[in-house]
Amino acid sequence: MSDPAREARLRARVVELARAQDPYAHIFAGKEFRRDYVAARTVAWSALFKDIRDTTSRVLEIGSKEGRSALFWLEFFASAHLTCVDLFNDEDAGRFDRNLAAYGPRLRKIVGTSIKALGSLREENAVFDFIYVDGSHQRDDVMIDCLGAWRLLRPGGVMLMDDYTWKPENPDSERVAPAVDIFLAWHDDAEVILRSHQVAVRKRPA
Ligand SMILES: C[S@@+](CC[C@H](N)C(=O)[O-])C[C@H]1O[C@@H](n2cnc3c(N)ncnc32)[C@H](O)[C@@H]1O
Repeated sequence: MSDPAREARLRARVVELARAQDPYAHIFAGKEFRRDYVAARTVAWSALFKDIRDTTSRVLEIGSKEGRSALFWLEFFASAHLTCVDLFNDEDAGRFDRNLAAYGPRLRKIVGTSIKALGSLREENAVFDFIYVDGSHQRDDVMIDCLGAWRLLRPGGVMLMDDYTWKPENPDSERVAPAVDIFLAWHDDAEVILRSHQVAVRKRPA
């Protein structure tokens, strides 16, 4: 039987161990965070995205919270411009602003729902080399985010989706995986380059 308190303790321990070994820990030093969804990923991300590091100049992130993953993209893709979309409607928003204050010219913040932001970006004919989908975890929202983001990704670009294995006990409508699975079934132009807790796909040239 699942024991939520024990699971939370284990998760906290994993994050603590990951932080102790994180070669990118210096990026986050002195910043304000309440949660860490990133420390356990930086090693895998830097290996997986090594080849696109120098050619990625336009990055979109759906779901930025306090800015931890945003900071990573800005440091890892050192010459990239980052567009962050989030509701930014609670105290995370202040932390995001303070954590990212030094990156002003390389950062665009879009406040609001991803469905609205993706529509506006499409109207602007925006194009991205790399997109991180980590906003709402409700199936229908994830579906909208994946489809909307895919249209903004250039051929050869990479899209990364978080939390594929999140909460398997939830009903389908409250999980990420069913949306990602449908997205992959619809899109044979998506070459899967990672399928674990996160799924990464490269857009095949037309
Ligand atoms: C898991 S957090 C993102 C964590 C962040 N990527 C990181 O690693 O530091 C999810 C974020 O998605 C945002 N979010 C949820 N639903 C959204 C929606 N419909 N449109 C835009 N953002 C949304 C939340 O406000 C929250 O900040």
